[in-house]
Amino acid sequence: AKCILIGAPIDAGQKRPGCLMGPAAYRVAGLAREIRDLGHGMADWGDLALPDLREVASANPAVHSLPEVVGWTEILMDRVDDALSEGGLPIVLGGDHSLALGSVAGAAAHAERAGRPLFLLWLDAHSDFHTPMTTTSGNLHGTPVAYIAGRGGFDAFPPFPAPIPADRICLYGIRSVDPAEHAALLDHDIAINDMRVLDEHGIVAPLRAFLDRVRAVNGMLHVSLDVDFLDPSIAPAVGTTVPGGTTFREAHLVMELLHESGLVTSLDLVELNPFLDDRGMTARLMVDLVGSLMGKKVFDRPTRAK
Ligand code: ARG
Ligand code: MN
Ligand code: MN
Ligand code: MN
Repeated sequence: AKCILIGAPIDAGQKRPGCLMGPAAYRVAGLAREIRDLGHGMADWGDLALPDLREVASANPAVHSLPEVVGWTEILMDRVDDALSEGGLPIVLGGDHSLALGSVAGAAAHAERAGRPLFLLWLDAHSDFHTPMTTTSGNLHGTPVAYIAGRGGFDAFPPFPAPIPADRICLYGIRSVDPAEHAALLDHDIAINDMRVLDEHGIVAPLRAFLDRVRAVNGMLHVSLDVDFLDPSIAPAVGTTVPGGTTFREAHLVMELLHESGLVTSLDLVELNPFLDDRGMTARLMVDLVGSLMGKKVFDRPTRAK
């Protein structure tokens, strides 16, 4: 695969400054080298700049930074679509999770033209299923899954191209859901693999089941990896830590399964706040996880000709 790095230094989707240093931290931590050393093609498109802002009104006074987030959504939608159209595998370096409003919209626009169904794997402590009308924090990083699923309340945003049907969305690692999100999720047929499910069934089986469904219809697969998917003890550099996250070994196993599936067509790395990191450990872990996703193995067993 030819990976295309797209820096998205956005932190307008929440209130704690620092996420805009994310793309720089991934580069310092050696993301490009990690991918190249695994034998993949690699291009770095640098960091996107925020386009000129339009005035957009919010009906919910709690919402902040709406023009910025709309601007990022528009440019990311365009660039991710471009990267896919070039046959690349876009890797969006965040930046907070509001960037997925744009990255997944770009993937959806491309999938629609390609005539392939798009699936979404959301690796996150949070369900991010608020609309701009239901959020009480006003932080738009809590809204992308609702936009992607075609919920209302996103009037300020470009219409989402071909909203993803609920049964093609898989939330994984969930352990923090607000009441308004909970009520809305009960109305949708989204696979919710919260920690209760993963503790009982293990980290592998629910993921395999989802990947089998993607494969069965030759789907495209967008993976959105929020740093807080990981346990805070191994990934402290995030503003929204929630205890009880995935372990180092579980997270690598998820990435290895994704690699073996060969199904991933686009990827977000989101919510890294390098200002909160402990000597770069979170940035380095995220780079290592991308390594596993791109085929790095503990012990490579060459497949022998029979
Ligand atoms: N549900 C909370 C909110 O709306 C937290 C969202 C956290 N989202 C994230 N992408 N880290 O404020
Ligand atoms: Mn373009
Ligand atoms: Mn998130
Ligand atoms: Mn999260």
